[in-house]
Amino acid sequence: TNFPLRASLPAFAVLSGCAGRQSALSPGGQDAAQIVTLFSVMLGGAVLLWCAVNFLFFFVTRMRAGKMPLRYANRLIVFGGILVPTLLIGALLSWGLSIMPDQRSAGDGLTLRVRAEEWWWRVEYWPEGAEAPIIAANEIRFPAGERTALRLDANRYIHSFWIPSLGGKMDMFPGRETFLSLAPDLPGTYRGQCAEFCGPSHALMAFEAVVMPPEEFDAWLAAAAQDAMPPATPAAQRGKGLFLSEGCGACHAIRGTEATGDVGPDLTHLGSRHSLAAGIMEVSQPDLRDWIAHTRDIKPEVAMPAYDWLDDDALSDLAAYLEGLK
Ligand code: CUA
Repeated sequence: TNFPLRASLPAFAVLSGCAGRQSALSPGGQDAAQIVTLFSVMLGGAVLLWCAVNFLFFFVTRMRAGKMPLRYANRLIVFGGILVPTLLIGALLSWGLSIMPDQRSAGDGLTLRVRAEEWWWRVEYWPEGAEAPIIAANEIRFPAGERTALRLDANRYIHSFWIPSLGGKMDMFPGRETFLSLAPDLPGTYRGQCAEFCGPSHALMAFEAVVMPPEEFDAWLAAAAQDAMPPATPAAQRGKGLFLSEGCGACHAIRGTEATGDVGPDLTHLGSRHSLAAGIMEVSQPDLRDWIAHTRDIKPEVAMPAYDWLDDDALSDLAAYLEGLK
């Protein structure tokens, strides 16, 4: 009945996908807000240009039909075909270039080093003046209202770092460092995703980005620097024994234990992270059991072998230990 409304429904449906914690059009920080402005201005400029070209076409059609004198043709070409597009595109270009340096400025103190692995994220927090980093994985926390510098590289393949709600995208290369800086100002949980095809588990390479008020962030960072909590239950105690006897510590580190491997993600505070296996599972005992027993079914070609020879009791004990690592 109401055709314009019905016709615009698909557009509303598409735009509804622009909200949410992994959307470049739903900004949680200065850099993402700047990108939304850039997008809107470029879109506006493109619409203006499209209208100008249509006017030109309209007049040309009228001239060819003999409804307008031909003596306007030169002016149409000079203004509509050369002057307006050149000025408009030139203005858009110089404004676009002028806001670029903001994306590259240095941080306010905290530096993060992130290395893309197959297929997970190694994360190091370097507070200003720190001699050693605080090591974590698969989750990145930011203090709100401050600019954090990110130094990025990769282990073997080319990946790309992108938290759409917080800012631009940056490629990550083996053996070459790239830089990005982000100034999130809206506390909340956002989602990051590898944005460069990097192998069979590219789509399964995500992470949570948690933006916290500065005092909360400082308290969290101080807690993150501590050793892991000792096992709190008999099941977790048995799980710790299994973790060490099954050789998990050859690849994973849990600070405060004999596990010091650095091939796989650091698990010191796994229980307080928002997700498991790089943003694809929950940190819950059922998901931990599932992951340990079926790693390569869940994430093709991941380095961690599936521990499918462990029985249910052993898997439950391991899951109890890992979930309790806060
Ligand atoms: Cu890593 Cu795609």
